[in-house]
Amino acid sequence: MSLLHVENLSIDFNTTVGKIRAVDNFNIRVGHGTFHGIVGESGAGKSLAALAIMGLVRENSVISSDHLSLEGQDLLTMKESSRHKLVYQSMSIIFQEPQTSLNPCFTIAYQMNETLKAHGQRSAKQRNERVKELLHDVGLHHIDKILKSYPHQLGPGILQRIMIATAISCDPLLLIADEPTTSLDLSEQFQIMDLLTRLVEERNMSLILISHDFALLSEITDQMTVMYCGQIIESGPTKELINSPRHPYTEALLASVPANWELEPKSLIPTLKGSTPSLFHLPVGCYLGPRCPHASAKCVVSQILDRFTTHHVRCHCPIDQTVDTL
Ligand SMILES: Nc1ncnc2c1ncn2[C@@H]1O[C@H](COP(=O)(O)OP(=O)(O)OP(=O)(O)O)[C@@H](O)[C@H]1O
Ligand code: SF4
Ligand SMILES: [Mg+2]
Repeated sequence: MSLLHVENLSIDFNTTVGKIRAVDNFNIRVGHGTFHGIVGESGAGKSLAALAIMGLVRENSVISSDHLSLEGQDLLTMKESSRHKLVYQSMSIIFQEPQTSLNPCFTIAYQMNETLKAHGQRSAKQRNERVKELLHDVGLHHIDKILKSYPHQLGPGILQRIMIATAISCDPLLLIADEPTTSLDLSEQFQIMDLLTRLVEERNMSLILISHDFALLSEITDQMTVMYCGQIIESGPTKELINSPRHPYTEALLASVPANWELEPKSLIPTLKGSTPSLFHLPVGCYLGPRCPHASAKCVVSQILDRFTTHHVRCHCPIDQTVDTL
């Protein structure tokens, strides 16, 4: 049984200038103790999919799904209060901007205490001890000083460690990290990723890591989902996607990883031509069509989803043609 199982999740927005589908037929299965990566360009729908799974719905959105379960429990048919409780106890999310996730008006001690209180920790003494223990576990020193501080008095690296400590305070089964290192400098990025992976492993959690960084996800994830314009275009075991990408977009992402460059002096970095289309003006047929080096006439008709033995790709002409079409 999967820890998290999502089938055909879609998110529409009714905006003043029309309706858009920001997430289209999103599927994911996350096993216990596994690391799952979601990669894609800005606007691909990565964060929205994660927020919808957490039940954090944006205004003006319409969310639909055929299946959404956590530990085999059906979240779609559950009472709102039970669903909220189960999700709150079992999943946590860390966002890319720790500064905006914390309330500037309250000290760190107050905010962490409130989180523990919401998770049912009644004794103030136990809460204080637990807060210190959590901050120690995420590698922070001078804990008493940090606890008395307001968010603006601390650096982004310390704030992100506090967010991680807060996220793991409920001992979740699944941690979603949405670009957790984007606002940090390079040395802090490595430290935070090391910390996250260590904590997830030590505490037997599962991790969904959302990132633009294909190289990073290649290194640490077991499974990978690649998104483009709200759709999953390829998903499966990370090793397979790296060793034999089937979708032209995944191939392009792989080619954009510096370690894979074999460039002549002064030659250009390999990228796809053009840019991601607006969700209001999507191309007919395959959304990658106008940018795709493998496009052919049939790509303008609606897309098909092909299945390989162990992974999926949404493409009329996948790169390796030895494929069993569904
Ligand atoms: N409230 C909203 N109303 C209308 N459109 C929205 C709203 N929230 C998000 N969108 C659109 O949905 C799309 C997907 O957004 P999302 O934040 O999931 O992208 P993302 O893949 O996380 O991008 P990034 O890598 O930049 O964080 C974007 O085009 C965004 O503009
Ligand atoms: S369906 Fe066609 S245009 Fe789309 S990715 Fe595949 S080959 Fe390229
Ligand atoms: Mg995002």
